[in-house]
Amino acid sequence: MDQDKLKKLIDLREEAKLGGGEKRIATQHEKGKYTARERIEMLVDEGSFEEFDMFVTHRCRDFGLDKKQYMGDGVVTGHATIDGRVVYIFSQDFTVLGGSLSESFAKKICKIMDQAMKMGAPIVGINDSGGARIQEGVNSLAGYAEIFERNILASGVIPQISAVFGPCAGGAVYSPALTDVIIMSDKTSYMFVTGPKVTKTVTGEDISVEDLGGATVHATKSGVAHFRADDEEEGLMLIRKSLEYLPQNNLEDPPITESKDPIERKEDFLNDIVPEDANKPYDVKDIIYAIVDEKEFLEFHRHYAKNIVVGFVKFNGQPTGIVANQPNYLAGVLDNDASRKAARFVRLCDAFNVPILTLVDVPGFLPGSGQEYSGIIINGAKLMFAYGEATVPKVTVTLRKSYGGAHDVMSSKQLRGDINYAWPSAEIAVMGPKGAIEILEGRNISNIENAEEKEKYIAEKEQEYKDYFANPYQAAKYGYIDDIIEPRNTRFRVIRALRTLATKKDSLPPKKHSNIPL
Ligand code: HXC
Repeated sequence: MDQDKLKKLIDLREEAKLGGGEKRIATQHEKGKYTARERIEMLVDEGSFEEFDMFVTHRCRDFGLDKKQYMGDGVVTGHATIDGRVVYIFSQDFTVLGGSLSESFAKKICKIMDQAMKMGAPIVGINDSGGARIQEGVNSLAGYAEIFERNILASGVIPQISAVFGPCAGGAVYSPALTDVIIMSDKTSYMFVTGPKVTKTVTGEDISVEDLGGATVHATKSGVAHFRADDEEEGLMLIRKSLEYLPQNNLEDPPITESKDPIERKEDFLNDIVPEDANKPYDVKDIIYAIVDEKEFLEFHRHYAKNIVVGFVKFNGQPTGIVANQPNYLAGVLDNDASRKAARFVRLCDAFNVPILTLVDVPGFLPGSGQEYSGIIINGAKLMFAYGEATVPKVTVTLRKSYGGAHDVMSSKQLRGDINYAWPSAEIAVMGPKGAIEILEGRNISNIENAEEKEKYIAEKEQEYKDYFANPYQAAKYGYIDDIIEPRNTRFRVIRALRTLATKKDSLPPKKHSNIPL
């Protein structure tokens, strides 16, 4: 081989690796950010990354861009392994023209998305970009749309994980928005459809980048981000962790790992965790940590709609999705945000064959005009739809309250819940004693004039109602609950249920697709 030819290859590779050059790399570091290639190196198994299309450049000749050519054109693409499993990756390079998206840039991303689909492997996208490359005009817009279409077609086929470690603005936000998991780095990333300047011009609102679309906003207020990472290192760890619970594609099962946590581990404190007083809260996460393998819980949307808790755990090594009402926050009531959050998570689990454990302690749907005007009917229906449609194994444990419509929604037997357990503290009824007695005894109560007698009468009636309805035995009598279990045995019972359901086969009637109330 002619040594010059080899040298040329080596030199070109070195040039490509520098992206927009050393000065811009230094600026990136000064902002507390890593470069596109550093991020990939930190994410994947050592030495496993193979880069594609390093020699691609843009084709734009306008606005002086013919003199600004960078090898790789602002995005690093290729494949690698994470924990030995193949993933396809694109990582936008802000050092090249602000990571802005050109036609060639889009083609590079589309190429690896197509390969990921053919190979049935997850795709990870790391976003850090000034958006559409302004000089390329409609070609850039078309490039985005090519990516969006692939995101849509890949949805439910291969896991798609997005990290946002810098700007992600305008229509560019819609690629991450179409994926399964969004992770944002705190203080160094932002996402918005319209930035602060245009916002000020159009609406007069004066708002900072961080307050409009920073990681905190999207992790707490909008729910756009599933995770707010303290820094990029944590963000990359969260990508790896999310993939640990997911299969390579929808035709595979999630990987079962070996667990050293004893299957029959009993947790005595669970027998007393639910307070006698039905209005007293407790933290459902104490129950989750107590029953899962090694106390490991990858919580999604930790800071958003905290009245419901969702995330991935393992039971004897079997990846499982948990959905749990949180009595510690708004009494665990179902509202618009909680319903949408849980519905999206149930569908993620169902798409990728992850069984679902539902822990129920729900007083009902949140009443009021605020909720009704924001569409609690449609949003509650989303959660019901998601559960009713899900064909993965579904195990439900009712811990305490399970009232009204919320009872039906939370993976009840009739929504194809496979195994439904209740703790002895469960109260499964149309509504709580107070509301029920107000309705049933309203006339009698108003006829009693003496206040003391009135109070006594109400207390007696409420107690009667409680004795009759506020327990799991009515539901068990009709077979809506399969068994009433001792709380301390919950881990073992859930593991045995999941093992029994491992061969479950269920399907939906033939259709083009459902019409979930979006
Ligand atoms: C071309 C761009 C660019 C873009 C940045 N650059 N964004 N070049 N197209 N969209 C270039 C800059 O000119 C600069 O080049 C280099 O990248 C670094 O940018 P700076 O502005 O110096 O960096 P910084 O101060 O960190 O600011 C980053 C930024 C800002 C906030 C992202 O660059 C910015 O506001 N960019 C424009 C964002 C935007 O409006 N994009 C279009 C959104 S609409 P030099 O050579 O001077 O260093 C959209 C539609 C998508 O994306 C539609 C899909 C359907």
